[in-house]
Amino acid sequence: MNWLVTVAPAVAVTLIAVLVTKVGWRWFYIAAVTSKRDLTALWAYIKLLRLTKRYERENLTIADIFQMQVKQNPNKYAIISETQQWTFRQLDEFSNRVANLFHAQGFRKGDVVGLLLENRAEFVGIWLGLSKIGVITPLINTNQRGPSLLHSITVAHCKSLIFGEGFKDAVEDVRNDIPADVPLYQFNNEANGEVIATARDMTTLLETVERRKVATTADRANHHDRLVYIYTSGTTGLPKAAVISHARYLFIAAGINYTMGFRQDDIFYTPLPLYHTAGGIMSMGQSVLFGSTVAIRKKFSASGYFADCVKFQATVGQYIGEMARYILATPASPNDRAHQVRLIFGNGLRPQIWPQFVERFNIPKVGEFYGATEGNANIMNNDSTVGAIGFVSRILPKVYPISILRADPDTGEPIRGTDGLCQLCEPNEPGVFIGKIVKGNSAREFLGYVDEKASAKKIVHDVFHKGDMAFLSGDLLVADERGYLFFKDRTGDTFRWKGENVSTSEVEAQVSNVAGYKDTVVYGVTIPHTEGRAGMAAIYDPNNEVNLEVFAEKLAKVLPTYARPQFLRFLTKIDMTGTFKLRKVDLQKEGFDPTTIKDTIYYQTPKGRYEMLTPEIYEKINAHELRF
Ligand SMILES: *[C@@H]1O[C@H](CO)[C@@H](O)[C@H](O)[C@H]1NC(C)=O
Ligand SMILES: *[C@@H]1O[C@H](CO)[C@@H](O)[C@H](O)[C@H]1NC(C)=O
Ligand SMILES: *[C@@H]1O[C@H](CO)[C@@H](O)[C@H](O)[C@H]1NC(C)=O
Ligand SMILES: *[C@@H]1O[C@H](CO)[C@@H](O)[C@H](O)[C@H]1NC(C)=O
Repeated sequence: MNWLVTVAPAVAVTLIAVLVTKVGWRWFYIAAVTSKRDLTALWAYIKLLRLTKRYERENLTIADIFQMQVKQNPNKYAIISETQQWTFRQLDEFSNRVANLFHAQGFRKGDVVGLLLENRAEFVGIWLGLSKIGVITPLINTNQRGPSLLHSITVAHCKSLIFGEGFKDAVEDVRNDIPADVPLYQFNNEANGEVIATARDMTTLLETVERRKVATTADRANHHDRLVYIYTSGTTGLPKAAVISHARYLFIAAGINYTMGFRQDDIFYTPLPLYHTAGGIMSMGQSVLFGSTVAIRKKFSASGYFADCVKFQATVGQYIGEMARYILATPASPNDRAHQVRLIFGNGLRPQIWPQFVERFNIPKVGEFYGATEGNANIMNNDSTVGAIGFVSRILPKVYPISILRADPDTGEPIRGTDGLCQLCEPNEPGVFIGKIVKGNSAREFLGYVDEKASAKKIVHDVFHKGDMAFLSGDLLVADERGYLFFKDRTGDTFRWKGENVSTSEVEAQVSNVAGYKDTVVYGVTIPHTEGRAGMAAIYDPNNEVNLEVFAEKLAKVLPTYARPQFLRFLTKIDMTGTFKLRKVDLQKEGFDPTTIKDTIYYQTPKGRYEMLTPEIYEKINAHELRF
């Protein structure tokens, strides 16, 4: 026994010494501060995989899972809004009617029927109903008009289109370009309303069909069949239709439920469009799949946000970063703190406004997530770490196969080592974010777009060993020492000025704050005879509220000289796509030429003041008489 007493400490010391030299002291510290976070997440992930695997084995569709909720809570509200209150049974019966009507109209499994409708209970009822007969529903962005609307219809190979009464004009504008054998169905909020000449009256037709059950079972879908298409708008080009299968819908909705700790008695509030993943799956999925109530709104209103939360008694609110900024810019109101919201979740809440937001609106918890609709790389920040969009485990890095790779910040192309493989970034080193693709695993699968060429561009091969594949997010992220991840920029959005790399999203956030939370985009423009790109900020200020002197003064306090915009452009009109994002590409192309741009443009003088950029000044810049 005696020898043990003397030997044991020696052995222990040697062991620790070996470990320390191998992994370093730092490792123990990191492990100590992050292991609880990582193990909780791992446990949630295992439970999530168990659930999705079980439903996969049972070959369940979204409608099958929804049916369980109907059975359990037929009279609970599934969807509520200013004008509607639908129970689970109502939603079920409406969707049965849709299934029966479209089956009677000749639609069969695998057919594609587009949907163009604003946020209302029937929106969910229609895609859910169509899915009951195996029909796939492209969810068309309601802001699309003309050529882009037509593109959305044709790229998805729609065999038919359902549109709401509010979209009559938009549809008539493109009617002649839609093949005549594509029938149109107009959905009116009331039966026997007016219908355009080339469409059928869906509302009236619906009244004539059976609502208690779906008459046919011949066209049942499989767990891995396509459910809906969701359009994603890249920074360039027309919208792409991303494929969402039943499995993927389940994975997204269950994934956020299991990581954020939602409860069935939570009431969710989302003013986000139901045709996107955030509103349509992450929020609405909590109703359809898990039996919670979801409150919706036709159109987002900044001043209406917390007023709605009070009215609907919401306990969970959804946001996107731009909305949070608009809400923060509203005048103080008693509703600011009169609500019962215990958690807000969403994407894009920038660190520059995060603390102000939670303080003013008394928000106990923020669940920020990151993940592309079409991608397989999803991460979440569940512990309110300010600014983090998720984490990767430092002690178990391989469990959840997402990584940050060294990459060219302009193209997002990974940088390869001498062995031809990609390289992982160190903590604090920005790189491109990827998710490893594993075929046949709904967590790791990449279903891509309807258009296969677009899919190929998003895949990188031979990542960690020959023959493997990963989804390239196109976003630059950086991890800190504890593995928390922070968004840096989109690839290609970083530009170089005076030898420094400028992150446009960082500058956007600061400029917007200083300008009073206004919509801002920042981009680099080239100046003749000058190296790199000069920063230019376009600020939406229709009422001329920005005082340039105060603006310049405040900006100098938050941004280094090289990052401050050399040019400012004040916009009075903006073309918002459905995503609340200004069209950066177009603005960048237009540059800073005051002879072609109608908006007022300012340039920064060497003293740091902003002065009007006149055609004379513009000449001088081009002639290199005025330098930056
Ligand atoms: C799932 O169900 C469908 C329709 O009932 C059937 O055709 C298919 O073979 C099933 N798939 C599996 C894997 O059980
Ligand atoms: C998320 O946070 C909640 C507390 O807010 C906790 O109960 C839950 O376990 C956490 N989930 C994960 C996956 O970390
Ligand atoms: C998922 O959602 C349901 C209903 O909202 C809830 O009852 C359940 O507890 C949630 N699961 C987790 C792991 O949070
Ligand atoms: C800017 O980015 C380039 C390309 O990644 C890199 O080589 C350079 O060191 C960076 N410069 C600074 C100042 O960070």
